[in-house]
Amino acid sequence: MCGIVGYVGPRNAADVLLDGLRRLEYRGYDSAGLAVRGAEGVQVVKELGKVADLARVVQERQMSGNLGVGHTRWATHGGVTEVNAHPHCDGCGRFALVHNGIVENYLDLREDLENRGVAFVSQTDSEVVVQLLAQIHQGDMLTTLVDLQKRLRGSFALVILCHDDPDGFYCVRRGSPLVLGVNDQEGLCASDVPALLPYTREVLYLEEGEIAEIRRGSARIWDQEGHPVDRKPVQVDWDVAMAEKDGFPHYMAKEIHEQGAVLRSTLKGRLTEQGVDLSEELDWSGEFVRSLKQVHLVACGTSYYAALVAERVLEQWTDLDVRVDIASEYRYRQVRVTPQTLAVFVSQSGETADTLAAQRKVRSLGARCLAVTNVRGATLAREVHDRLLLKAGPEIGVAATKTFMGQMATLYLLALKLGWDRGTLNPAEAERLAAALIQLPYQVERTLEREEQVRRVAEKYSKYDNFLYLGRGISFPVALEGALKLKEISYVHAEAYAAGEMKHGPIALLEPDVPVMTVMPRDSLYEKSLSNLQEAKARRSPLVAVATDGDDLVTRHVDDVLRIPWSDEVFSPFLSVIPLQQFAYHVARFRGREIDQPRNLAKSVTVE
Ligand code: F6R
Repeated sequence: MCGIVGYVGPRNAADVLLDGLRRLEYRGYDSAGLAVRGAEGVQVVKELGKVADLARVVQERQMSGNLGVGHTRWATHGGVTEVNAHPHCDGCGRFALVHNGIVENYLDLREDLENRGVAFVSQTDSEVVVQLLAQIHQGDMLTTLVDLQKRLRGSFALVILCHDDPDGFYCVRRGSPLVLGVNDQEGLCASDVPALLPYTREVLYLEEGEIAEIRRGSARIWDQEGHPVDRKPVQVDWDVAMAEKDGFPHYMAKEIHEQGAVLRSTLKGRLTEQGVDLSEELDWSGEFVRSLKQVHLVACGTSYYAALVAERVLEQWTDLDVRVDIASEYRYRQVRVTPQTLAVFVSQSGETADTLAAQRKVRSLGARCLAVTNVRGATLAREVHDRLLLKAGPEIGVAATKTFMGQMATLYLLALKLGWDRGTLNPAEAERLAAALIQLPYQVERTLEREEQVRRVAEKYSKYDNFLYLGRGISFPVALEGALKLKEISYVHAEAYAAGEMKHGPIALLEPDVPVMTVMPRDSLYEKSLSNLQEAKARRSPLVAVATDGDDLVTRHVDDVLRIPWSDEVFSPFLSVIPLQQFAYHVARFRGREIDQPRNLAKSVTVE
């Protein structure tokens, strides 16, 4: 939820840290701070608001020094105040610490420290950690950090500056991500890879419980008991340009526009005109695939909606029992799994706390676990039996767009493989579907080109405060996703319902100032959707439809149409979601919202 960064090297640490925080700002943006070690010791600066606000203060103070740590916060414990912002220091000024995560036993620890005379200035769990560190420190940092970990419950990634050590800093990781990057002269760490990309593309992922010491050109790693660990760096296939706005006004706009390319790279090498080949990633025998009985798809938010789309596809292409659940529910339910259950965890970040917990639970019960994620080194990707990557490149906008596209494509590939290997798809059908998938990037690009029609409609509807989104069949999850996008970035209330459910309750909401957005491509349920539209029209709601080119009937019934190219029914979500993403984006622009960093949201939800 928060973003942390550490630097040691020849450059001005404040510049590197601010640049890193800007690249991590999507993780948290209510306050930010830096601690830099210069000629006069350690200087700490904190500021409410964005990293840009912090940058102004840093410039005024002319902070200089070659070693430092930085933090961008998404408040959990303690309100959004300057004292609660990081870095936190101990009372004697020996350590400065930044923290991402939640220390669950902080109240007990705090009480204990207060009884021993320690005075606190903030309400945070993070200050408790630095005060405790100062109390137990006996000179050797490694022994101290091994001891510190044993006393903390919960999740944390910590980066620690010791005032009497001018040449390096320390990291500890449990539950929250931390990546290290080292080149000849520099040493860095960050919550996520984009902050390291300007300096290196070779990274080291810290594993659970590990401790690291970073110096210029070196990183030493130990396990939680203090035994040395030999870790080889991993080459990342993202580059710095991928994490830039590239001339677009917002990351979200850029990421929406990248969706054709995302599909192309997700399908590349995995799909031929004859069928699907996932053998590089999944070493499943035909016997294993045929032995499967159920598929569970588990995720949160947008990833959950991608799973709902995939549910319908798996039902059509395979004979498996498919179940989809929200990770925060699934993890506490009495789920029944066996080695014949394929449990698929869909998570862009691969760090969502509920999804990780759900995975750990059913893995321990014997399910075969597969991660569908965008981040190669993410915790989820490392903990599961098998993984499939989205290949969407870094997604910086807080509202997920291109990763939704990548998730759907990856799940379709999986469904195609399962259908093919289990013999539930005949070769001709599999070939036809593979050929249609190969065409999808072009259709997505043709849909993206129509943004101007969406912008105009968005302008017309940008004053409304309540929307109802409807869809049936495979378009229902698309309606859910469209409504979520509108809520997230424009703060407009939008409810999504299965169109057939409208008359069971939400119809009571309809009146002339509640527009209804219906996702209704020309498919097998089209006429049913049309009837539902009539019900809304009779209540004088303004009507907008996402409809297929050449569908003239719909124009007679609705006020505005967002057109998409024709596609086979099963592929329509790839196209119909695009005008909904663009609609949310433009409504948010007309309402003057902070598109890439909507209030209260964090990109990576690493707490329960
Ligand atoms: C919506 C959005 C969130 C995420 C959700 C799960 O735009 O981004 O709803 O989809 O927090 O995140 P991941 O996919 O990282 O597990």
